[in-house]
Amino acid sequence: MQYPQHNPLPIPASGEYQHVKGTLDAVFDWHYELKRSKLLELYEKGKAATWNAADLDWSTDVDIERLVSNRQMLGGGAMINQLLAPPRTLDDREAILLNLHMNAFMLSQFLHGEQGALLATAKIVETVPWAEAKFYAANQVADEARHVEVYHRYLTEKLGISYEIHPSLGTLLADIMTDTRWDMTYLGMQIMVEGLALAAFGLQKMMMAEEPLIVDITTRIMADESRHVAFGVISLEEVTKAYTASELREREDFIMESTHLMRERLLMQPVFERLGWPLDVWLPWATNTPFMRGFRQMLFSKIVPNLKRLGLLTPRVREMYEKLDLLRFEHMKDSVEDPDVVPPQELVQLLLQFLAKPQEPGVAAS
Ligand SMILES: [Fe+2]
Ligand SMILES: [Fe+2]
Repeated sequence: MQYPQHNPLPIPASGEYQHVKGTLDAVFDWHYELKRSKLLELYEKGKAATWNAADLDWSTDVDIERLVSNRQMLGGGAMINQLLAPPRTLDDREAILLNLHMNAFMLSQFLHGEQGALLATAKIVETVPWAEAKFYAANQVADEARHVEVYHRYLTEKLGISYEIHPSLGTLLADIMTDTRWDMTYLGMQIMVEGLALAAFGLQKMMMAEEPLIVDITTRIMADESRHVAFGVISLEEVTKAYTASELREREDFIMESTHLMRERLLMQPVFERLGWPLDVWLPWATNTPFMRGFRQMLFSKIVPNLKRLGLLTPRVREMYEKLDLLRFEHMKDSVEDPDVVPPQELVQLLLQFLAKPQEPGVAAS
């Protein structure tokens, strides 16, 4: 994996390396029972589905600016103003900048989230008690290294714009790493972070449908992530129904706190800071404009049914999710019934308008 590392990622003010005190109980499983057939099936699938970052066509000429300009020529400029309802009308240049930076911001957070998944899943290898789950987690660790590699290469070699980790994502990843309980690592990473990422990747693929390299990257990563989320649900199913009242309360608190942190990140404050656009104007816009609200809600379309399957959509969590209008996803298929992600129809319609495209671009994960 040799590639020219142009445009290095910005380093956070806290420094090049971040140390998080992660104490853990490493568990040996001397049974080697290997009886959990769903986990073993997933392990076989994971091994068979391995791919190499070098298989991608890195010679692709990636020019997001040209892509967005082409959309504008097709009438997308007026559409952007109509759909986003920005605080003031954006001219073509500003609309291009906003698109470029939002895309780079999202992809940068994917990269940092992938590094979080790499570390968190390595921890699961040590802490989960069952050999079958250790096997699968080990396979996932290799997937995550590849995801970090691919997003890093895309951002630095092809895009040239990147962002450091958003503080809310940083806090969430640190919380996941410091908690000693193995089921909390799963809940934080496989259910919340990866559940949101899976939905976000589906949107990314739609938004950048005319850029073949990112479509290829996203399709491959989504196939891996859908297994990772299923791994989380299948593993946690064995324990969540047996929580005591206080254990359950701690999990509820964690779900609510991580939901808050993930939504905060999606306000994309660093984008407005980088563009030099006033935060007192743009943050309220990002908080309230229907398109951005819809976008944030849709990212929970896989998390909600998975929490429900695990018995974690409890009255306390429901109360919060009701206020955020997230309960509309509770009847969608969970990751065991359907590991793929199909963006909800209402979002597909919204995005098709945004892209000024009348036809359905084939959005389901493969
Ligand atoms: Fe990943
Ligand atoms: Fe993953």
